[in-house]
Formats: sequence, structure tokens, C-alpha cells
Amino acid sequence: MITIAVSKGRIYEDALPLLAEAGITPIDDPLTCRKLILRTTRDDVQLVIIRATDVPTFVEYGAADMGIAGKDILLEHGAESLYEPLDLNIACCRLMTAAHKDAPPIAGRVRVATKYVKITQRYFAGLGIQAEIIKLYGSMELAPLVGLSDCIVDLVDTGNTLKANDLEPRDLIMNISSRLVVNKAAMKMKHQAIQSLLDQFEKTLAKRG
Ligand code: ATP
Ligand code: PRP
Repeated sequence: MITIAVSKGRIYEDALPLLAEAGITPIDDPLTCRKLILRTTRDDVQLVIIRATDVPTFVEYGAADMGIAGKDILLEHGAESLYEPLDLNIACCRLMTAAHKDAPPIAGRVRVATKYVKITQRYFAGLGIQAEIIKLYGSMELAPLVGLSDCIVDLVDTGNTLKANDLEPRDLIMNISSRLVVNKAAMKMKHQAIQSLLDQFEKTLAKRG
């Protein structure tokens, strides 16, 4: 049995067509059933449905053989202990700094609200900017509006969330997409099964171009 960890929401939705091409379709819909382990149309593959931030942990400990996670989550977690064989090119967005549209350029000593503490620390240290980081778990865009921070580090796709809150994107930290990650021991112990899944995903991605 191969266990694949996936988070509900955009990654699950974007991953479904890719999984379907490999013959993997969940039998139950995680949106309507409360099951956390989903059997699929393939007897040898099951999905576990977890929070996006927990995917690297499940795969690292071998509780899942493989997983799908955003590069943002992998970098923040520190995923050196995982194989990252494929860029799935789904859930694409940008990790950026953003500030109020009337705020001055980000420089000197700044207060930054983000859920990406490690990435943000590294980024500002690299620029030689002294940053005080305030860890938040969501709604980062609110922080500059209520005086909690000078700027934020968050994901931007259409830019609509920033715009709706009078913020503007400033600097690109990195482009983000979701990656397939594999547990190192599983890669050895279940090599054939995992390699054949990787080949199938790769074929589908190549077709997509
Ligand atoms: P959690 O469940 O831990 O709170 P989350 O709410 O951030 O996580 P999602 O919003 O589904 O979970 O995001 C999952 C991944 O999708 C992110 O890690 C990122 O890689 C990508 N992502 C997030 N926001 C966007 C967006 N607006 N557009 C495209 N991709 C995004
Ligand atoms: C993400 C991100 C931004 C928004 C950006 O939030 O944290 O708030 O998407 O997308 P946009 O540029 O297209 O507006 P998400 O939708 O995941 O909400 P959440 O953080 O509350 O889960």
C-alpha cells in the first residue's frame, strides 16, 4: 500500500486530475465525508487528508510514503530529510513582501508579520535589514492596517487580497508551486511502486507541457 498525504483545499483540487491520470480517484469526497483516510480506485493507493503545514511531518516520519506540499511549506519546515523528485506545477503563486500602498520603502528596522518565520528571517538577514518578526497563522494582510507591523510576507496570486486591503506587493522572495515529496526509507523499501507512480505523474506533467 502506498499512502499519499494531501491537504484539503486548492492542493487537493489541483492534484485530483493528476492523480486521476495515474488511476487514483478517491472513493469518498473529503469535503462531504469526515474520513481522514480515503481509499481510492487503486487498491494499492490511499490518501490521507491533513493540514498543508503537516504534510512534510507525515512524510518525514514515514506516516505517509509520499505527499504533495507547497514549496513555501517545505522551505519553512526544512525538508532536507525528504526527496523532492517532482515539481507538480500546481497551486502556483509568489511569496512576496507587501506593505500599505502609502507606506515608505521597506528599509532600516522593520516589523514584519508572517506565518513564514524562518524564510522571512533568512530573507531580511540577506538584505542586511533588521527585522522583528511577528508570527501569525492567517489574515496577515490585516497586520499593517491595524499597526501590528510595517509590512508582511505572504503568498500572492491574483493580488486581489492585497488590493482589497489597500496593500501593494513590494519584493518577490520566490516563486512557489507544489512539489511531490517522498519519504527516503519508502523510496528504498517500496521502490518499484513509488517509481512507477513517479513515472506516471511525470508523463502527465510532460503532456501538460
Ligand atoms: P493550513 O491548512 O495549514 O492553514 P493553508 O490554509 O495555507 O494551510 P491552502 O490555502 O490550501 O492551505 O494553501 C496550500 C498551498 O497552496 C500553500 O502552501 C501554497 O503553496 C499554495 N497557495 C496558497 N495560497 C495560494 C493562492 N492564493 N494561489 C495559489 N496557490 C496558493
Ligand atoms: C492565500 C494567501 C493570500 C491569498 C492571496 O490565502 O495567504 O491571502 O491567498 O491570493 P490572491 O493574491 O489571489 O488574493 P488563502 O486564500 O489560502 O486564505 P487563508 O490564508 O485564509 O487560507
